[in-house]
Amino acid sequence: MPVPPPRIDVLDDYDALSRAGADMVADFLAATPTARVVVATGVTPMGLYRELAHRRERGDLDATGVTVFLLDEYAGIEPEDGRSLLGWALRSFVEPLGIPPEHVVSVPTDGDPDACAAYDLEVERAGGYDLAILGIGTNGHVGFNEPPSDASVPTRMVELLPESIDSNAAYWGDAARVPRRAVTIGMAGLLRSRMTLLVASGASKREIVRRSLLGPVTAEVPASHLRASADLRVLVDRAAWDGSGPT
Ligand code: F6R
Repeated sequence: MPVPPPRIDVLDDYDALSRAGADMVADFLAATPTARVVVATGVTPMGLYRELAHRRERGDLDATGVTVFLLDEYAGIEPEDGRSLLGWALRSFVEPLGIPPEHVVSVPTDGDPDACAAYDLEVERAGGYDLAILGIGTNGHVGFNEPPSDASVPTRMVELLPESIDSNAAYWGDAARVPRRAVTIGMAGLLRSRMTLLVASGASKREIVRRSLLGPVTAEVPASHLRASADLRVLVDRAAWDGSGPT
């Protein structure tokens, strides 16, 4: 049976997208104060995280009961390394929102298959994720679920594709500084999240957003699988939306 296109909110610009994303997350956390939340790094959700931090400063948000699950981490990178995605998530999400550090769960960064399987099992036994905040790569990756990744892939070590190495080079100044492998939460766990918020901004994402949301559901575009999520919300800005589909 064909998967229907999800609801897509097209916002005027990045700031509006960030505010709309913060509204959704804040509402979710108000209703579920002890939510288990998957947190992406990358550039796109940073405005949303800053918005949430402002709300906390104003006393409008209490995230102290939240448990954070880091979406992905480069293999062999220590938290103290400036490139650590855990470090990035701590600085941008965990600390500004006043979430206790003991409420932060990383993927097994050595990528050991038994440890990854145990991680998935433990999350499943605890009831799965409540909310996943995700970005999308220009090659359709979600986390580091690089194409091809089907809906059943577990948490695991992956090799980064050249396109991901290039996009991650923008974070660290040089492709040579981008680790070649990473551990990512698998599609299987992400797809069982109770709610999923996908954010995309800028013209570089326009083509892959269209393919992910309106094209065939395929392992070649891992983000297309998100359309099978229980409750997918998509926020894009005008630059990332080609206007040819439903809004
Ligand atoms: C980040 C992650 C990636 C990014 C994606 C988009 O933890 O896993 O999938 O969400 O590469 O990155 P930005 O937002 O920098 O364009």
